[in-house]
Amino acid sequence: MDPRSIASHFQKHFPESGAPFLCRVPGRINLLGEHLDYNGLPVLPMAIDRAITIAFAGRPTPEVRLINTDDRFPEMAFTNGGALEPSPAGAWENYCKAALEGMNKRFDVKKFPGMDVLVYSDLPSSAGLSSSSALVVAFALAYLAVLDYTLGQDISRLELAGVLANAEHFVGTVGGGMDQTVILNAEAGHATKINFIPFQFEHIPLPEKASFIVCDSMVESSKAGNALLKYNAGPAICSLITNMLNTHFIRAFDEDFSIDCIGDLWLGPLCFNRAEVEKLFAEILPNSHMTVAEIFIYLRMDPAIVREYWLDHIPVEPEGLPLQSRARHVFSEYYRVEEARDALIGGDLNTFGRLMNDSHASCATDYGISTPEMDDLAQILRAAGCLGARLTGAGFGGAVIGLVPAGREVQVEKAVRKKYYVDRLGYSGEAPVFFARSSGGACYLS
Ligand code: GLA
Repeated sequence: MDPRSIASHFQKHFPESGAPFLCRVPGRINLLGEHLDYNGLPVLPMAIDRAITIAFAGRPTPEVRLINTDDRFPEMAFTNGGALEPSPAGAWENYCKAALEGMNKRFDVKKFPGMDVLVYSDLPSSAGLSSSSALVVAFALAYLAVLDYTLGQDISRLELAGVLANAEHFVGTVGGGMDQTVILNAEAGHATKINFIPFQFEHIPLPEKASFIVCDSMVESSKAGNALLKYNAGPAICSLITNMLNTHFIRAFDEDFSIDCIGDLWLGPLCFNRAEVEKLFAEILPNSHMTVAEIFIYLRMDPAIVREYWLDHIPVEPEGLPLQSRARHVFSEYYRVEEARDALIGGDLNTFGRLMNDSHASCATDYGISTPEMDDLAQILRAAGCLGARLTGAGFGGAVIGLVPAGREVQVEKAVRKKYYVDRLGYSGEAPVFFARSSGGACYLS
């Protein structure tokens, strides 16, 4: 739907509102660096030409009214105010509440305006393409305008990304800041390398001789639904590892020293190098699994606290927790991101493709976020001529991306349609496959 039709839909639904403003917010694919952002380590996503567009207008009363052109998301209304109560998990208005809550705190809003909003999206949801963060960013941009603040003047795009990354925790997922940062700061023709310590980004030119194919595995991955608990286990496990590291430091340094996240090992005051981090992990996590009893003993903390903070959020396998392999993924993925950045800049597509394959293997085996369908899809893409293929986003379903060298687009697309959707899934509908073009960051239209 073009912006004019979106505006006229808005006016049909909200006839008493004035002419709406519009903003367009892209989704993203992550090229490399999965589950690193909440560890403070760099990631390499790219904003894509599939987006959420919203039409909106302010209201003097605090009522917020939401309409979605996709009827899977019912019409909603709530009252803006001091402390917003989350709606039941999975309710789509929670993304709006998250944005409003974050902005109300950031701008210390005392008099709460409302707004009318109509949402239109050509960005698939629950496919690992960040439709949820795009929605949060869209509502935040709308509310910013309603509050009469100017993006880039009253708040920078980078600061807004940080505010919204935290604000999105309202929905229940404790994600990092990758999605909001690329969505707000991307530049067309480029991937965005995001560093979190310190928080900054760099635009990396995309190759001209290749493109990225995006294939939805059709295994639904909703961060506010079926994937929520699985996703949150990642941050919980990494926070547990961070605490074990801190316990080790207190013993080793004999003073109160601590780090905030695993990324601090390299990028915080310790400035450890590769060998030092490797040695440290080998010392702290010598076995593939650690039992709950061993964790209690290591941390010397009240078991009730250990349960409340960590273990209640992590599924415990009979052998214990696979802390060693989770740490190994974070470690190896960090080095892959750095190498991938250099490969992109140097136009070395073969290396980039190999790093994508290695990342997928690490996500699957060491981090446990792939599915048999996603593994097969990645394999089919490679066999069809992609230089590399990997899952993208949170995992547990959603999309797989492939790096397609120029000239092989038709061959790859044809092969994946047949071998995955028809042969593997027995699906006869229109296959959810597209070539992603890069996009600039979120913007107001008009
Ligand atoms: C989701 C989260 C991000 C990030 C990815 C995994 O998209 O929103 O913050 O953790 O998963 O890389």
